[in-house]
Amino acid sequence: MKTRKLLVGIAAVGLAFSLAACSGGGRGATGSGGDSGGDNKGALVGVAMPTKVSERWIKDGDAVKKALEDKGYKVDLEYGDNKIPTQVQQISNMITKGAKVLIIASIDGGSLSDQLDSAAKAGIKVISYDRLLTGNKNVDYYVSFDNEKVGVDQATSLLTGLGVIDSSGKKVDGVAKKTIELFAGSPDDNNATFFFNGAMETLKPFIDDGTITVGSGQTEFTQVATQQWDPATAKARMQNLIASTYSNGTKLDGVLSPYDGISIGIISALQGAGYSSDALPIITGQDAEAASVKSIIEGQQYSTIYKDTRQLADQSVVMADDLLTGKTPETNDDKTYNNKVKVVPTFLFQPTVVTKDNYKKVLIDSGYYTEADLK
Ligand code: BGC
Repeated sequence: MKTRKLLVGIAAVGLAFSLAACSGGGRGATGSGGDSGGDNKGALVGVAMPTKVSERWIKDGDAVKKALEDKGYKVDLEYGDNKIPTQVQQISNMITKGAKVLIIASIDGGSLSDQLDSAAKAGIKVISYDRLLTGNKNVDYYVSFDNEKVGVDQATSLLTGLGVIDSSGKKVDGVAKKTIELFAGSPDDNNATFFFNGAMETLKPFIDDGTITVGSGQTEFTQVATQQWDPATAKARMQNLIASTYSNGTKLDGVLSPYDGISIGIISALQGAGYSSDALPIITGQDAEAASVKSIIEGQQYSTIYKDTRQLADQSVVMADDLLTGKTPETNDDKTYNNKVKVVPTFLFQPTVVTKDNYKKVLIDSGYYTEADLK
């Protein structure tokens, strides 16, 4: 029996690697032990990431590359520097170099149609990584977090931080009225509207009953969006809001921020206008980036959303490996993510809210950060 196992293992080296490396994340496909992916052993996988400006994408890129290399694949990992033509060129090069699978976290989800068409013609499979590729049928799979839930969690933590709801989610009786401002992410990123819609659904009852007012009156996505998630753009908008709405002494109690980099821009605008650390509004975020977790520990930012990039990276690699070894990748949501042309089969993970109260348990005990990372 032992010998047979060994032989099967040798015959299906890719599969054996794949199973050994599988951390038990609930995979459906177990394979039959056949070496259907033999041709793709050591194949090239192209990994396109949007930017190094944000720490999360560096973690994503590193984790995807390592997991692919651990399975014996060659990797071309590229960062697009938040420039669409750069990413277009990088993906074209990956296709030319003979990549068999592309794992893409886009800068603008709708800007890669020509590359997706070329990939399909060459038989290359495409996995949309965290950000959905839109407007093209040649997107095979999507792996992400529950993006609407991220928005719900951001708004829920804002309401909790403001003392409008208690930790069980119930409205607190007799709470004073609160004034907030809203920020959203980049309009060319499909996730941004999911975050915003999830947050607005959660805030709506409290806006409708007058508990919460958006001081500037800017409540439409188009008014509050931040092109390319740019912290400087968010800072400038916050400076304008302070001047237009809060320079008369109106108290700003909270700011819905969709991403830690934007939160840093918002905090910098507020501090520049004289807000001291203990007088800052309740500010949310996303990605649990080290600088923002430190800010949470110091009591400036209130919350962030932790999305374990290790899980996301591993799942994208499990999917790539399945595709390269003739298996059907497991999905757990085949209805939510319509990319305007088709519903893309999706594997979603769940986000976690992080505040000063639970960061140790969530971020340090899980090994995502060491104590020293957050000093
Ligand atoms: C990601 C977020 C990230 C944002 C800015 C979104 O697509 O889902 O995690 O904060 O991009 O990089």
